[in-house]
Amino acid sequence: MELVYLSRADVEGLGMSMREVLAALTLGFAAKGRGETEMPPKPGIHTRPDCFIHAMPAYVRGLEAAGLKWVSGYPPNVAKGLPYITGLLILNDCETGVPLAVMDCAWITAMRTGASVGISARYLAPSGSSVAAFVGCGVQARTSLMALVEELPALAEVRCYDLFPEAARRFIGEMGALFPLLRFVACASAPEAVRPADVAVTAIPIVADPRPDLDAGMLKRGGLAVSLDYDSAWTSAAMRECDRFCSDDVGQLLATKEHGVYFGGIPDRISADLGELAAGLKPGRESGSERIFSMNMGIAVDDMVTARVLYERALERRAGVRLPL
Ligand SMILES: NC(=O)c1ccc[n+]([C@@H]2O[C@H](COP(=O)([O-])OP(=O)(O)OC[C@H]3O[C@@H](n4cnc5c(N)ncnc54)[C@H](O)[C@@H]3O)[C@@H](O)[C@H]2O)c1
Repeated sequence: MELVYLSRADVEGLGMSMREVLAALTLGFAAKGRGETEMPPKPGIHTRPDCFIHAMPAYVRGLEAAGLKWVSGYPPNVAKGLPYITGLLILNDCETGVPLAVMDCAWITAMRTGASVGISARYLAPSGSSVAAFVGCGVQARTSLMALVEELPALAEVRCYDLFPEAARRFIGEMGALFPLLRFVACASAPEAVRPADVAVTAIPIVADPRPDLDAGMLKRGGLAVSLDYDSAWTSAAMRECDRFCSDDVGQLLATKEHGVYFGGIPDRISADLGELAAGLKPGRESGSERIFSMNMGIAVDDMVTARVLYERALERRAGVRLPL
């Protein structure tokens, strides 16, 4: 027996586009909404303060996608010149359980996270959304913008705030080259970035301090906030004033809340998850004035449906390295 090993460069070299990742996640979320997935809440270990290594298993029936992602997030890595997010993903054969592939998961994580923002925007952004804001201009912000460009045809302005102005400048330089028709605005604070935005994405490290403390009233009426950083950026008051509070997975959200560290301030009622929206079981945005919050924690279903496409493409192209099991 042998498996396919795909390095980060191999994964990237397969050239899966954001549009293709969005298509994979759409199928995955719809399957999840119909109850065709198995995905226990992710357990984690914590070897240093503010750091995590999470185990993320999932099975998506019908798409024959099953496996486990073992992913770490270490805020101090940035100062060491290492990526914040690193890890591996194992894809298994659904029939036999035999491992089919081991692949780097940093690219997958970044792309599927961005795509989840696109899917939130598809169902929950105000129609004609033209202004997006990013608080934290790192890896996930880049892929989130790629997905918003796919989902929001009227997008024209991108407002950017980062604790380190140089990071916002780099973001504007790189993303401006990719999307020359968008207008980029560097902002001096998180509220300045967010206040005029139709869609505001926060993606800062999940640390106790410093926090931008985006407060009640800062998300405009009719706006959509998508948080990729748990409850690091928005205050409880801001989350509670929203008319609807959604998530990519209610089960995982509530299981994490039970641990008592995160989500103490979220509203009691979770109105929908992205699976229910994608399967058409619950309505998306219903009025132009609703403030909506989407708490996207990142789910293993997204990883597995993306990894399955990459694996099939790697077989077609004979990419990567064959290793004996
Ligand atoms: N929900 C998901 O699916 C998912 C997946 C991957 C990562 N994440 C989370 O997304 C967040 C960002 O990850 P990343 O890979 O983009 O990290 P990154 O290091 O590439 O980017 C983070 C950016 O935030 C900036 N920043 C730090 N503190 C800030 C503050 N107080 N205000 C404004 N900007 C600040 C940093 O300077 C940096 O540019 C992390 O919390 C990570 O755990 C979520």
